[in-house]
Amino acid sequence: MTTAGQSETIVILDFGSQYAQLIARRVREKKVYSVLARPDVTAEEVRALNPKGLIFTGGPASVYDDGAPICRRDILDLGVPILAICYGMQLTCKMLGADIQPAASREYGRAQLSITNPNVLLKNVPQKTTGWMSHGDQVRDPGGDFDILAETPTCPFAAVKHKARPFYGVQFHPEVAHTPHGNEIFDNFLYDICDCQGLWKMSSFIDAVLDEVREVVADDEQVICGLSGGVDSSVLAAMLHKALGDRLACIFVDNGLLRLNEVELVESTFGDHFHVRLTTARSADRFLDKLAGVSDPQEKRRIIGHTFIDVFKEVAAAFPKASYLAQGTLYPDVVESGHSLAGQAANIKLHHNVGGLPAELGFELIEPLRDLFKDEVRQVGELLGLPEQIVWRHPFPGPGLAVRCLGPITRDRLDTLRQADNILLEEITAANLYRKTAQTFAVLLPIQSVGVMGDGRSYENVVAIRSVDTSDFMTADWSRIPYEVLETTSNRIINEVRGVNRVVYDISSKPPATIEWE
Ligand code: XMP
Repeated sequence: MTTAGQSETIVILDFGSQYAQLIARRVREKKVYSVLARPDVTAEEVRALNPKGLIFTGGPASVYDDGAPICRRDILDLGVPILAICYGMQLTCKMLGADIQPAASREYGRAQLSITNPNVLLKNVPQKTTGWMSHGDQVRDPGGDFDILAETPTCPFAAVKHKARPFYGVQFHPEVAHTPHGNEIFDNFLYDICDCQGLWKMSSFIDAVLDEVREVVADDEQVICGLSGGVDSSVLAAMLHKALGDRLACIFVDNGLLRLNEVELVESTFGDHFHVRLTTARSADRFLDKLAGVSDPQEKRRIIGHTFIDVFKEVAAAFPKASYLAQGTLYPDVVESGHSLAGQAANIKLHHNVGGLPAELGFELIEPLRDLFKDEVRQVGELLGLPEQIVWRHPFPGPGLAVRCLGPITRDRLDTLRQADNILLEEITAANLYRKTAQTFAVLLPIQSVGVMGDGRSYENVVAIRSVDTSDFMTADWSRIPYEVLETTSNRIINEVRGVNRVVYDISSKPPATIEWE
C-alpha cells in the first residue's frame, strides 16, 4: 500500500463491504487519492500514509458475531477525521461507548432521512431526503458523547457526530447512487472536514509512477512486457516506454486467434507511432496446428496457455539483460486477490489470464498500474496519447477467438468468425454503441441450420451476437441493442460472410450465463 507520491490521501478501512471499491472511486472522483486497507491495519501503517481522513466501510457482519472484523483502538486516536458507514459506524460507536443492538426489523432499501441537527457533514443536503439503508444492527443508545444529526422512521440515530472527536457516523450508505445527496456528503467530508483541496491529478500520478519505475529499474537493466493489444497491456507499455525508452522490450504473440486487423493495429500503434521496441512472434501456425480439431474449451485454454508460455520464453531469451517482467495488474485484482492490505473478501476472483506467466521464468514483477481502476487506466491511456481504438477497446479473453469459435478450431471457421465479428463491431461503432456497451462480439456456433438462398436450400453456420452492459464483468445484463442495428448487422453478416445463413441474439444475463460462451 503506497500513496504513490500523493500529498492528500484518504485511507479506507474495508470491513468486507461490497461497496468498498465504490467508496475508493467516489473519493478519487473528487480528486483525492484513496487506498483500501484491511480493518486490522496498524495505526503506524496508517500514520505512515499521512492520511487527511479515514473512511470505515460497511460490512456483512454484526458487531456481536464471533470473529467480526474490528479495527485497532489506537486508529481512532490518530486525530484525523473519520467517516464511519453502517457496520463501520456501529463498530466504532460501540468502541466509543455506544450501545448497539439488532434493529426491530432489518432495514433494507430507501429510507426517508430527516436532518434534525444541521452539521457541516450534511451541508447542502435537503432537510428531508433519501438514504439507502442495508443493516440489521443499529445504535440503540449513543450515550452522552454523540450529537444526533439525522434520523429515519426506524433508525433514530441515522447520522451522528462525536462531541469531542472528528468522528462522524452514518447508518445509511452515502456511496451508492440510491442516496441522492451522497455526493454532497463526500464533498463535505473531504473538503470541509478533512480539509482536502482535491490535488489528485492523473498526470502527476503518472509522473510519480514513472519516477518510481526509473528508480527501481537500474540503468543497465531491461523490462519485458507482454503486449496483447488490450487496454491494460497497451497502457502499461506506453507508460513504461515513457519511463524507460529502449530499455523496454515488448513481446506481442500473434497466436492466430486475434480479431481482424488486430496485429496491424498493435504494430502500427506501438512500432510505427510510439517507436517501442516491439517483437511480434508470428506463431499462428504453431497455435493453430496444436488446436486443429480441438473442441473442448478447457483443452483449448490449456493448449493456448502452454504454447503461449513456450513462445514467450523463446522470444524473451533474446533479451538476456531483462530482469523484470511488467504486468498489467489493476487495483481491483490486487484487492480481490487479497495481496494488498485491503480486502476481507480475499480471492473472490480467480484470474485465468493466458498471459499469466509462471514464476520460474525468473523475472521480478513490476506492476505500475496496480493502484488504478479500469477507467483510470483508460484516462492514463488518453493522457499518454494512445488512440481511442485502443483506449476504449472492449476486453478480449486471453484465449481469443478460440473460445468464441465453439466446436473444433479450424482456420476456415476462425476466418468466418473474424469476418462476422468485424461486421458486428463496424455496425455497433456506426450506431455509436461501442462505448455504451461493455463487451460486444460474435460467436460461431457448432451447429448448422437450414435456410433458403435464392431458389435453393442451404445448410450453413449460425453466428450468435453477444453484447453486454456491465461495469465489473462479474455480473452483466444483455445490451438492449436497437432492432434496426441488429437487423443491419444480421443482413450484412448473412450477405457478406460466406457460409453463414442465420444470426441469433443472445439475451442471457450473467448470472446464470457467463459473458463468453465457453
Ligand atoms: P465470463 O465469460 O467468465 O467472462 O463471464 C468475464 C470476463 O472475463 C473474460 N474472460 C477471459 N479472459 N481468459 C481471459 O483472459 C479467459 O480464459 C477468459 N474467459 C473469460 C471475458 O471476456 C469477460 O470480459
